[in-house]
Amino acid sequence: MIWIVGNRGMLGTELTRYLEAQGLPVVGTDREVSFLDTAALETFVRDKPITWIINCAAYTAVDKAEDEEDLALRLNAEGPENLVRLAASQGARLLHISTDYVFSGVPYIINGKPRPYEVDDPTGPTGAYGRTKEAGERRVMSAAPDSIVLRTAWLYGAHGPNFVFTMLRLMKERDSIGVVADQQGSPTWARDLAAAIYGLITKPDVPAGIYHFTNDGECSWYEFALAIHDEARKLGLLTKDCTVRPLTTDQYPTKARRPAYSVLSKAKIKSFGIPVPAWRESLVEFLKTL
Ligand SMILES: NC(=O)c1ccc[n+]([C@@H]2O[C@H](COP(=O)([O-])OP(=O)(O)OC[C@H]3O[C@@H](n4cnc5c(N)ncnc54)[C@H](OP(=O)(O)O)[C@@H]3O)[C@@H](O)[C@H]2O)c1
Repeated sequence: MIWIVGNRGMLGTELTRYLEAQGLPVVGTDREVSFLDTAALETFVRDKPITWIINCAAYTAVDKAEDEEDLALRLNAEGPENLVRLAASQGARLLHISTDYVFSGVPYIINGKPRPYEVDDPTGPTGAYGRTKEAGERRVMSAAPDSIVLRTAWLYGAHGPNFVFTMLRLMKERDSIGVVADQQGSPTWARDLAAAIYGLITKPDVPAGIYHFTNDGECSWYEFALAIHDEARKLGLLTKDCTVRPLTTDQYPTKARRPAYSVLSKAKIKSFGIPVPAWRESLVEFLKTL
């Protein structure tokens, strides 16, 4: 039996549907069984034959975390540590979701080009959210080395606020929008991430450790917005044009600094036969579901 913690969040909702559709037995909890409350966790798990706990719960407010780092640390490090200790005591394993924000965003340059971050590259978060997520990774892997930490990035899906929904709304409301063009990453459809999680927990030969999953390829937020516009126009989700203008990060200041480059290498997860669809094709598939 699989226990999805944070089952009402964007990823948790998608993952619940995906695993259930594959016929796996799934239970889920969100805030009503806080992962900060060890007694509540133990009560919930009693008499349930849990084999995997998948932690989709987190403190995800990147800018607010700059003012609430203590709270973010509790949710992003203490909560996962409670889950991993519980998993170990039950003979279960933890798959914990982490983020590209554990990296500095200053890439290694090979032959004049930035190279995607490998799973064992040194981390170096520049903001509170990234620091707390990095602490969570360390606590999980040191408490139970048979765990899986799965880093992802630029997530969007049907269940919750995200960049795609924001762009579609703004493109309907306005004739022109500005989007940051000097931050490079890889968009990720939550359904593809759910499929990758399914692969990781069901394939017999996948070892413990750190993995990366995003959709394949890379783009800037500006290029992502252009793709959303053009594909939504083709599908009839937008009935008028909206001009998308490139901005620099300086022209769109945020409280927390975003990594300028956060492309994650998927070489490791691909080596286990887990599909990594291209970001634009997945965007089209997602838009078709709307
Ligand atoms: N979204 C992205 O772009 C992105 C990018 C990279 C990595 N990630 C990682 O991906 C994972 C899933 O992200 P997401 O966007 O699906 O997050 P989300 O939508 O914010 O979902 C997180 C869920 O955790 C719940 N939660 C908060 N505190 C809790 C507690 N004490 N006990 C139990 N549940 C609690 C939240 O409830 P409330 O809504 O009531 O707070 C929410 O339902 C996270 O680990 C995140 O760090 C996300």
